[in-house]
Amino acid sequence: MNVHTADATTVEEGLAIQESQAVLDSETATAVAMQDTLLTPRFYTTDFEELDSIDVSPVRTDWDALIAEMKADPNKGHFKKDENWDTVDWDGMEPALKKEFIDFLISSCTAEFSGCVLYKEMKRRGANKDVTELFQLMARDEARHAGFINDALREAGIAVNLGFLTQKKKYTYFRPKFIYYATYLSEKIGYARYITIFRHLQENPERRFHPIFKWFEEWCNDEFRHGEAFALLMKTDPRLTSGGNVLWIKFFLTAVFATMHVRDHQRPAFHEALGVDTDWYGHEVFRKTSDLSKQIFPITLDIDHPRWAKGLKMLQRASADMDAAKRKGGLGGKLAEASAGARAATAFAMLYTIPAKRHEVPASTRLEPVY
Ligand SMILES: [Fe+2]
Ligand SMILES: [Fe+2]
Repeated sequence: MNVHTADATTVEEGLAIQESQAVLDSETATAVAMQDTLLTPRFYTTDFEELDSIDVSPVRTDWDALIAEMKADPNKGHFKKDENWDTVDWDGMEPALKKEFIDFLISSCTAEFSGCVLYKEMKRRGANKDVTELFQLMARDEARHAGFINDALREAGIAVNLGFLTQKKKYTYFRPKFIYYATYLSEKIGYARYITIFRHLQENPERRFHPIFKWFEEWCNDEFRHGEAFALLMKTDPRLTSGGNVLWIKFFLTAVFATMHVRDHQRPAFHEALGVDTDWYGHEVFRKTSDLSKQIFPITLDIDHPRWAKGLKMLQRASADMDAAKRKGGLGGKLAEASAGARAATAFAMLYTIPAKRHEVPASTRLEPVY
């Protein structure tokens, strides 16, 4: 029996290891992970039967190559502390940074685990060999990712109770096509986020205040492959990326980018410690994600449009006001929350109605990670 999630070859084994270490888990971290708001990572469920009915024959060659790459398991054993794991001075960490960094780790762990739960469920329910094989491999990776973040959290004396989350966190239902758009984007934006931070810290190693960032390069390649898998799934049915569905694609692009912007701006000390300007970082991640998503989506958002930055700022302010109003409570708080909510909706509409850029989608979707 393996004793570390990094060496687990299946998702079941990885989760059993996490479960056995759950004695250290902290209620606070789990409570944070349990939150379901527009901005926090959610758990998803879908119509597994419909997903199972996919026929990947139209993309067979690319599909087999991708599955072979994942089966070869290039990251087996990677997600564990080794001699590169420097000692972290949690007690000496500036309190604002510590708070934001822990929030970052909990939210990343929840997002990784959300993928794990969805993929594992698909593998369990499906009968289609291609589909179940893919989802089993992706669940394996996400279990390792979540487990590794939890290892880092344990050093700070806390961890997320993944078993508890599986049972108790609310599941949001998305029909399969929405799962494709949302999950594809979250994998690709995950890749873009990890690699942008990794490259920045390669150039500014003195800013690396925690060793986990050293693992981001191989890590993001897992996410890249997961994104490739969803691109291939969408490629099997051209209707998914044409006609009225393009409006849905635009919606998901806008929602995913806007959520990231608001979330990141809630962590000023974290970005300052990394030496990263949050607006620059956001733009860089949007640019990379847009570039990648051209492999399958016929549109990209015009992130250089003057209304884009303005709309994001407006949304961010409205969201901060909503939080403040919620904390205030009472009737005054409720009214302030409603008015800030209306401003957030207006800001989102402002972003959504910016004309998108159209382009031709290539015949083959396959890409290599080049950033
Ligand atoms: Fe992941
Ligand atoms: Fe992933």
